[in-house]
Amino acid sequence: MADSRTAEIRALVKAGDRDGATGRLAALLADLFGLAASDIVLNDDRYSLNSLNGFFSAGGEPFFFKFHQEEGEEAMRGEYYRVDILAKAGLPIDRPVHVSAEPGEQILIYRRRSEPRFADVLRALDLAPDAALAARAVAAERALNGRLAAIAARTLHPIDAATAAAEPIHRLFHQRLVDLPAGTYPGGRLVSFYRGKTSYPDKTFAFPGVTLDWETLSALRFVVNGVDYATPLGAMFDEAATRLSPERLAGAGLVAHGDAHNANVWFHDDPGAPSLSLFDPAFAGEDVPALLAEVKATFHNVLAHPLWLYDPDVAATRFTARAERRGDRLVVETDWALPAHRQALLDAKAELYWRPLLRDLAARGLLPADWRRVVRLALFCCPTLVMNLRAGADRHNPVSSAIGLSVAVMCGSEPVAGEDVVTRFLAAIDPARG
Ligand SMILES: Nc1ncnc2c1ncn2[C@@H]1O[C@H](COP(=O)(O)OP(=O)(O)O)[C@@H](O)[C@H]1O
Ligand SMILES: [Mg+2]
Repeated sequence: MADSRTAEIRALVKAGDRDGATGRLAALLADLFGLAASDIVLNDDRYSLNSLNGFFSAGGEPFFFKFHQEEGEEAMRGEYYRVDILAKAGLPIDRPVHVSAEPGEQILIYRRRSEPRFADVLRALDLAPDAALAARAVAAERALNGRLAAIAARTLHPIDAATAAAEPIHRLFHQRLVDLPAGTYPGGRLVSFYRGKTSYPDKTFAFPGVTLDWETLSALRFVVNGVDYATPLGAMFDEAATRLSPERLAGAGLVAHGDAHNANVWFHDDPGAPSLSLFDPAFAGEDVPALLAEVKATFHNVLAHPLWLYDPDVAATRFTARAERRGDRLVVETDWALPAHRQALLDAKAELYWRPLLRDLAARGLLPADWRRVVRLALFCCPTLVMNLRAGADRHNPVSSAIGLSVAVMCGSEPVAGEDVVTRFLAAIDPARG
């Protein structure tokens, strides 16, 4: 595909020839779709190195285009196909208006949205409280979760191991712990971010108050704001590698987006009926293992905020954290906490999505006895494997790293005693609670 037209355009962007790239893109859009594109803008997206996207106008209308050259044609056919699955099931999902599935020239054209992403609305609320806007945001979240639960109930069905394993959602969880294609553990991001394969290279983890190597850190149990957690950090990765292996998630499947974190969600601030809709369903499917379907949305919309995961520099000026080693414990004290609007989003998801889903699974005999471990381990993978949380490695610093690993531990481990935001969440969704 080296000489495909999308590959050429990408090469021009990489080489800094933006005029050359937009000229070629205009010719491609004319040729493939008969569009007379003007005002082409290429977006700089530091998060998607393999993706190229941007805006243009044609016939007086604004459009958004995207292509993912290096992921190959399968990935792009994937998105078009996955949009269709979700739309048919009744999810509010953006559909492309033009699609090219030509080998090497996979392009999707969407109408350009002017609404904000829900992630940006909520970030603004993190920085400057606005009770009226927060109320509309929570109302929109509640409406979406009611709809998602109805779709889950309608599409829930038994799945076998091969069906469970074929879903792309595992790319967000298990496949980040192993080397592909063999699936050897440890591997993937776990090794590139935190540890060696068989030995522990000298990556250090700096927290305010103490610096540790992985071998030491991974064996420690965390105590966060006085709550003592049962499982050491390294053991949670080991357990996730086993329990979240794709075949082990056989049981119940449903139609889901799978990666509906709020940077893939639009906020429609209609007076009286604020609502949300989804886009970018790269990991969607018809047989998404039921316990994984909303994990990304649950973690990334709530526990990743305020600020610590995506704005670690700002987090370090707003929050404090201290860490101290005491024997086999890492004792962390931090003033990071969920603000009310984030807690309200979690409550909405617990009450309107998770609780009815788990009841339904239990009623149909499809809820595994260890569902709490599955949900906890999947939540744990969200922050630890999306970005390197080691201070100095990428964007994180000692404060955000201490907060981040503490939040990850709250997700992955039961406390020995006491409660926290995750124990309250799990208690709220437990179908055995009547
Ligand atoms: N229809 C659209 N109109 C305007 N901007 C869009 C549209 N779709 C996506 N975007 C913007 O482009 C970004 C990347 O698009 P997305 O589809 O999420 O691709 P990926 O996450 O795979 O790179 C989004 O976060 C959003 O800011
Ligand atoms: Mg996206």
